[in-house]
Amino acid sequence: MKKKLVSLLTVSAMTMSMLAGCGASGSQPAAPSSEPAAEASKEEAKADTATDAATDAATAAESVAETATAEAGNADLADKKVGVCIYQFADNFMTLFRTELENYLIAQGFTKENITIVDGANDQATQTNQIQNFITQGVDVLIINPVNSSSAATITDQVVGANIPLVYINREPDADEEARWDSNGWDVTYVGCDARQSGTMQGEILVDMGQEKIDLNKDGKIQYIMIEGDPENVDAQYRTEFSVKALEDAGWTVDELDDQVGMWDQATAQQLVANSLSAHPETEVVFCNNDAMALGALQSIEAAGRKVNEDIYLVGVDALTEALEDVIAGKMTGTVFNDHIAQSHGAADAAINYLTGAGNDHYIGCDYVKVTTDNAQSVLDSLK
Ligand code: GAL
Ligand code: CA
Repeated sequence: MKKKLVSLLTVSAMTMSMLAGCGASGSQPAAPSSEPAAEASKEEAKADTATDAATDAATAAESVAETATAEAGNADLADKKVGVCIYQFADNFMTLFRTELENYLIAQGFTKENITIVDGANDQATQTNQIQNFITQGVDVLIINPVNSSSAATITDQVVGANIPLVYINREPDADEEARWDSNGWDVTYVGCDARQSGTMQGEILVDMGQEKIDLNKDGKIQYIMIEGDPENVDAQYRTEFSVKALEDAGWTVDELDDQVGMWDQATAQQLVANSLSAHPETEVVFCNNDAMALGALQSIEAAGRKVNEDIYLVGVDALTEALEDVIAGKMTGTVFNDHIAQSHGAADAAINYLTGAGNDHYIGCDYVKVTTDNAQSVLDSLK
């Protein structure tokens, strides 16, 4: 099944054309060569989606725009109740996501009073209770960013059992779980990006700069430290794996000096990177699974008297405003735009499609965009 690609009319179309304008070829994720057979057709479909991204973008954006026009001001939506579960409010990226989600739901015709967004406080038991409460209250649709992706099967059973359509966001349930929605014909979908692509792009940012530059001590290896998000989360697993894989795929030899878990959090990462840098002053690259942690890393890099892009390289993911400003100022080597606008709009549109009976595919993808000094300003402008 060909998977649907959500793409925001303005941002994604712009960033796509920016990519084309910068001539940044090779920015698509390399098809993983060592995937289990069961994953193969899904991977093919995802690779297809990625490869066709540029050409599909305009069409997808058009159809998103049409859907939006058709639904805008839809009186029926004004009395529909939406429950939204966020894994943790104290997460920079998910804050951007939920703010945009709420605004867009209102723009589509839902009323503010009928949209309830709750904080799972990074605790699955808390979130499970919140889901139960939404079911008891009789919400019409649920949008869930699970605390633990591994709890998805339990969550799905609970929600489907109550006959409520369900849109998962940001933390992708595993392939077996997604297959269950399809084989049972349930109104359940996932809207998000393929984290492998973001990891690959992080590595490619360095590869594009050339080994000569990155191998500061000229020993033929890249000495790096890795700061991971929550290891239960597939985004952390894939970004950790595919960022390094992109260097290896380019024929580079890597030397991992440290691998620490920063739980997506700036202050945690700051402490970890301070320790790593003093234990391993030969560090040439700091990979962070997200920008919040990269911002923490930057504080420690500066405190250690080091200079990004001169005696150390630093990459993140998300394209938070502050990170984009750092890329522009040369204080971060690069980041990867995690399109919270396309994803939140895609999730809201999917919820609407369930409410109107139009239905959805069981996977709705979105592309990441590589961000370097070349395009950081345009990405920042597109987000204003
Ligand atoms: C990632 C994002 C992180 C964090 C995480 C939460 O996609 O890059 O910053 O928000 O989701 O699951
Ligand atoms: Ca080296």
